Amino acid sequence: MSTLPPFDAPTLIAAKRDGHRLPDAAIDWLIDGYTRGAVAEEQMAALLMAIYLRGMDAEETVRWTAAMIASGERMDFSDLRRNGRRLSTVDKHSTGGVGDKITLPLVAVVAACGAAVPSASGRGLGHTGGTLDKLESIAGFDATLSTARLREQLVGVGAAIFAAGALAPADAKLYALRDITSTVESLPLIASSVMSKKLAEGAGALVLDVKVGSGAFMKSAPQARELAEIMVGLGAAHGVRTRALLTDMNTPLGCAVGNAIEVAEALEVLAGGGPADVVALTVRLAQEMLTLAGLDKRDPVATLSDGTAMDRFTALVAAQGGDLGVPLPVAACAETVTADRGGIMGDIDAMAVARAAWRLGAGRSRPGEPVQHAAGVRIHRRPGEPVAAGETLFTLYTDTRERFGPACAELDGGYRLLGDGDTPPVPRPLILETTP
Ligand code: URA
Repeated sequence: MSTLPPFDAPTLIAAKRDGHRLPDAAIDWLIDGYTRGAVAEEQMAALLMAIYLRGMDAEETVRWTAAMIASGERMDFSDLRRNGRRLSTVDKHSTGGVGDKITLPLVAVVAACGAAVPSASGRGLGHTGGTLDKLESIAGFDATLSTARLREQLVGVGAAIFAAGALAPADAKLYALRDITSTVESLPLIASSVMSKKLAEGAGALVLDVKVGSGAFMKSAPQARELAEIMVGLGAAHGVRTRALLTDMNTPLGCAVGNAIEVAEALEVLAGGGPADVVALTVRLAQEMLTLAGLDKRDPVATLSDGTAMDRFTALVAAQGGDLGVPLPVAACAETVTADRGGIMGDIDAMAVARAAWRLGAGRSRPGEPVQHAAGVRIHRRPGEPVAAGETLFTLYTDTRERFGPACAELDGGYRLLGDGDTPPVPRPLILETTP
């Protein structure tokens, strides 16, 4: 004898449409049913729009996130030990920035300070690049790790960067549906999407880098603050020490935006050099992660100058099949944008640079599309720097020459050379605030 389902989707959609709370058991039933195919795509699409318009309260968001975590495996590293001592695990998540290669040096710095970083990462979609796309420009790098290999690597190397794959499978399905139903920009849905994957990953603590500005999902600080507060609440509700930083994303991070060229910039940072903003954000996020991991007596800055962070990064890449001895891919074509007069570089719009890099082939428009690893934009003059007539401002790289035209058009309105009568750009702080 078959049993009747405890809920029906039309009633729950109507309840949310009319502004009511969804009961815990109904949320569990909806997410489980949708993941298994028992709740239809059009029913979930209608529910997502109702959530977009009506929102979810804190308890609903916690339960929605828990149900998404429960759709797959939740990893647990609390038993990991090194030299007989318990190993603290901690990770960072960025909501997506332009030129954001911070994960690469950061995991190595934190590992060199004694914590272990299980960093589940994704491939890029839209204007921000994915960490895996960057790493896969290293010959042989493999982001697929079994749980056993991941645990071994966390003990032996101290860090792993791997494909989020089986974590929170409900999210992959829901995200694809949100993408085609204009329901991505809902704070509880963004927060539960990010946190379901990060909480399933099993780190004991988590630092969130919530980007604010033209190149970010969140264009304003109040919006970003609200998202940060929801995500920190979700971390706490699931027993994971969580802190969020709001950081500026009006201008790209560093001087390289792409895949291989961002890896090269990350290697410069690990060698003790690199752009000041990339170094500053890496060090600050490392300090926050080490504090949450109970290892705040370690000095992240020293790991960049004494080579220990570089050692950890080299070990991570080697453990995942990569060969840093093979030169990074170089684009078949390069073109420069030069200054038609002297002056001062004004603000550089992160979104314009991101779109130019995407046009050059560094990003994808549809999940699964290949990316050009060598494509991207190099920024030669940062905001506020003097520029002489004829100097190179940007170099554009691609394997497909026809892409230069559309890329230059994207970049065109995204920067301005300032003359004598213009007010120079006001330096903005990189780190705006922390929550809590
Ligand atoms: N990143 C995610 O993982 N999910 C969202 O909803 C938005 C950004």
